[in-house]
Amino acid sequence: MLVLGIETSCDETGVALYHTERGLLAHALHSQVAMHAEYGGVVPELASRDHIRRVLPLTRQIIDQAGCALADIGVIAYTEGPGLAGALLVGASIAAALGFALKVPVIGIHHLEGHLLAPLLEPNPPAFPFVALLVSGGHSQLMKVSGIGAYETLGETLDDAAGEAFDKTAKLLGLGYPGGPALSMQAGRGVPGRFKLPRPMINSGDLNFSFSGLKTAVLTLAKQQTLDDQIVADIARAFQDAIVEVLAAKSLAALSQTGLDRLVVAGGVSANLQLREQFSALSACRGFEVFYPKLEFCTDNGAMIAFAGAMRIKLSSAKGWKFNVRPRWDLAANGGYP
Ligand code: KG4
Ligand code: ZN
Repeated sequence: MLVLGIETSCDETGVALYHTERGLLAHALHSQVAMHAEYGGVVPELASRDHIRRVLPLTRQIIDQAGCALADIGVIAYTEGPGLAGALLVGASIAAALGFALKVPVIGIHHLEGHLLAPLLEPNPPAFPFVALLVSGGHSQLMKVSGIGAYETLGETLDDAAGEAFDKTAKLLGLGYPGGPALSMQAGRGVPGRFKLPRPMINSGDLNFSFSGLKTAVLTLAKQQTLDDQIVADIARAFQDAIVEVLAAKSLAALSQTGLDRLVVAGGVSANLQLREQFSALSACRGFEVFYPKLEFCTDNGAMIAFAGAMRIKLSSAKGWKFNVRPRWDLAANGGYP
């Protein structure tokens, strides 16, 4: 069965073809970063309009790349939520129209389910159950994943998501948008230990996070300094050290609380190299296995949506075609959907 995946929840248009027997056949992505950069963040209306321009040409491109035809598509999976309402509606409309024209079922996928299953696209995928640390621009959660559709929230951020903290901190350090990759590049040049920032909620005794205070601490520190390139890099390093240490401590606590020894780290922030080094080092000395998506599938993409679609149709045979978006949608509460 060939699954077409369509992702349009935010500022990336992603499409992919995943075959249930042959694996990922083709995928393509258009990032809107350059378009939104001059506004310092995502402009929802511009995002929707750009998705409209991109989805069909990208779909034609991957169909050619995979050497197949539209008629070979057996199911269409699109991101139903959470995300920007207008942007989601573009993916939902195109999926529904294509599904109707091709007479194939259309299924809506939870964006975070896509993220947390993305490591299963890799050659040595984790077996269920596992703990997932999901760190993206909009969400930061620790989940117990017992199988497809069986998700339990163990802890989550009480305010900013980890990616959001990267983005806001980068902005106040003058590093522009998108902040995560820019800040982590600066942190790579920074002197470790020159500045020390708080580790919010590290000893809270639960699995929740809070990152907005960290951003305020950076602001206070930056105001006390005469900023030059090196000081910016040193502050970026201090910020990254703090956030990685908190994420690592909470993930270790989640592993010990659940008694599991497999950890999946997914979502945009899982592309962070220092975070990966830290988690890999911990896994070696603490005796758990850690799994990441490949770098290009950490941030938003169509492959994770096509893959989640393929997993969903194994669970229940998809029928009919769907047209729905859920800009706000709790995965743990609705893991089995509808
Ligand atoms: O998963 P994603 O593409 O979108 C959401 O679902 O939110 O995550 C985007 C987030 C952004 O906040 C971005 O700054 C962050 O992931 N990010 C990074 C890195 N690459 C992307 N954060 C830290 N280090 C990176 N290398
Ligand atoms: Zn995402």
